[in-house]
Amino acid sequence: MNFPTPRREFLAALAAAVALVAGCKPTESGGGGTGGAAAGSDKIVIGEFASLTGKEAAFGQSSHKGTELAIEELNKAGGVLGKQLQHLVEDNRSTAGESATIVKKFISRDKVVAVLGEVASGRSLEAAPICQQAGIPMISPSSTNPKVTEVGDFVFRVCFIDPFQGKVMADFAAKTLKAKKVAVLSDVASAYSDGLTKFFKEGFTAAGGQIALEQKYAGGDKDFKAQLTAIKAAGVDGIFVPGYYNEAGLIVAQARQLGITVPLFGGDGWEAPELIQIAGAQALENTFYSTHYSPEAADSKVQAFVAAFKAKFNGEVPDAMAALGYDSAMVLADAIKRAGSTEGAKVRTALAATKDFPCVTGKTTLDAKRDASKSAVIITVKEGKFKYLQTVEP
Ligand code: PHE
Repeated sequence: MNFPTPRREFLAALAAAVALVAGCKPTESGGGGTGGAAAGSDKIVIGEFASLTGKEAAFGQSSHKGTELAIEELNKAGGVLGKQLQHLVEDNRSTAGESATIVKKFISRDKVVAVLGEVASGRSLEAAPICQQAGIPMISPSSTNPKVTEVGDFVFRVCFIDPFQGKVMADFAAKTLKAKKVAVLSDVASAYSDGLTKFFKEGFTAAGGQIALEQKYAGGDKDFKAQLTAIKAAGVDGIFVPGYYNEAGLIVAQARQLGITVPLFGGDGWEAPELIQIAGAQALENTFYSTHYSPEAADSKVQAFVAAFKAKFNGEVPDAMAALGYDSAMVLADAIKRAGSTEGAKVRTALAATKDFPCVTGKTTLDAKRDASKSAVIITVKEGKFKYLQTVEP
């Protein structure tokens, strides 16, 4: 349908008003259709749910930009199965409960072909059972907790999982940092933090190390001095912090204020420029984290992506979430092409057969558990800048 511009604007305003009343804020990139089920016939509708605002906004924004770039590139190249992709995006404001509501709406109101999201494992876990029940494929770009894809055979991810990530950091602590006794400071209310703690502990003990003590916090906490004081008294030679950048940044800063000089290290949850703003450059010396890719890699696929991303987003360098957000859309488009159909069950079968697909974050094969096996990179912070240190193969 091609309405004259004023009418289209009116319809868009109307749609926005309806959405406001419904308590959500849909935006859309790519396609540019009228949205909803009506667009289903001439467009392939894809729904992305993301933390565009709120506590983990850095994650959602970054992942969303990557996804948006992928969809734009796909549409410019003629779309998929001769149709343009229509990319619906909704913000869960980093809060619990919102993702379920959004994904239900995507499925019943917008008739999406597939769902993309989320970064945080806890929020992917909220949406996954809904997609599974409706037979709509869901691809998480970057949730690493194993439970996400265990929800069912319609749930996929394009990143590695935490049993691997936990072992990567355990080996790094034992072999590279030569730590013998470490403390773990984790978030009680996060599926991600909980899982990564478990896998790190297993890996570090297997490498001959000792977990001297474990301390907990709740996401949103601002003061970690009590836990850090206990950790300091235990005389450890490293602290593992498997949380997200907000709390990790404060923990690093407060540890240094307490005179703790040993290395602090974490997983992909640390990945955000905000980490440096929160902790400060100096406190972050002697800290390390694992993640999914480095924009410094010489690989031509990485460099083409970095160049396209910078051109689209005012010179911004894409981080791991941006790369995985991009990859999730590309993997989905490839599956729809191979399926030759947008039917949920057929797309699911094609997704499950994804093999050696060239992603920015490496060649992607989805295994029997619908997970990807990929290398991790370890990053350090030097003078307030993220620096690539090493790559660890699975
Ligand atoms: N892996 C994290 C989770 O499962 C999310 C994350 C992905 C954070 C990539 C940073 C980078 O919750």
